[in-house]
Amino acid sequence: MNPYSLAAKPSPATSVQDARFAHESEEEFAGFLDFYGVRWEYEPTTFPLRHADDGRVIEAFTPDFYLPDLNLYIELTTLKQGLVTDKHRKLRRLRELHPDVQIKLLYKKDYLNLLAKYGVGDLGASDAAEVGEVLFTASEIERRLNELGAEITRDYAGKEPLFVGVLKGVTCFMADLMRHCAMPLGIDFMTISSYEGDRSGAVRIVQDLSENIAGRHVLIVEDIVDTGMTLNHLMRQLQAREPASLRVVALLDKRVRRLVDVPIDYVGFEVPDEFVVGYGLDFRQRYRNLPFIATLRPEALQRT
Ligand code: IMP
Repeated sequence: MNPYSLAAKPSPATSVQDARFAHESEEEFAGFLDFYGVRWEYEPTTFPLRHADDGRVIEAFTPDFYLPDLNLYIELTTLKQGLVTDKHRKLRRLRELHPDVQIKLLYKKDYLNLLAKYGVGDLGASDAAEVGEVLFTASEIERRLNELGAEITRDYAGKEPLFVGVLKGVTCFMADLMRHCAMPLGIDFMTISSYEGDRSGAVRIVQDLSENIAGRHVLIVEDIVDTGMTLNHLMRQLQAREPASLRVVALLDKRVRRLVDVPIDYVGFEVPDEFVVGYGLDFRQRYRNLPFIATLRPEALQRT
């Protein structure tokens, strides 16, 4: 139930077929939410921001999406930077008037990152010139793995956990992490379908685990948690299989971009709001074999 129903439309669009999107990026974003099974309403609420002396509303703000399950409004902005300033002002005003409203502004860069991660958009001339700054060298990764391995070994003493990884980004991390853990353990993998911008699918398990996890201590091993959508979906799926415990280790945490709050028990490194590649992470299946983790140059993300 939308808590601002006074200002809400009686029946906002909740499907791509019904919505009249103002911008192509909004439709793409709706497809992305559908894929992850996150319910949405398009422009359901208009927040009055300013009133004239006679009570007329003279300024209002209508965020693009409301996600009822997360109680979160999303405003996409693919406009030129100059025009974003006005949105910022409106958002500030909205927050003053309704400090309890949760709203996130997704910039063009965030949006391109989101699409790029699913391989939507053209790569253009593609070689290592697209790789930007190295964030973590091979030896920094190795050092952090030592610490993580020691911590996980301590926490699982006397148990035999099952490490569960989602292919393919996790390959390097899984291979290295398990060699830094000293207790007996098992490993298993699953493959889930990824959003390819076709707006018709939903997350599917393409290849399921080979082990039964009921009663097992499961540690999900993730390469990177970005919006949290994948992990949220995965945790719901695995929890339903009644493991004895379910924890998460993520090599990288892009916390600033989180949309769904998911618990992460062990984090390798926090990363800034940049698209990163290497050490298993790809951009359109490239760069997984880099032994370090680096940013991708923003030019590579631009759609042509
Ligand atoms: P989330 O569902 O938005 O949290 O995204 C998680 C998945 O997206 C990860 O398992 C990665 O496969 C992919 N991903 C997210 N950010 C990046 C990135 O910066 N580089 C490469 N892949 C990424």
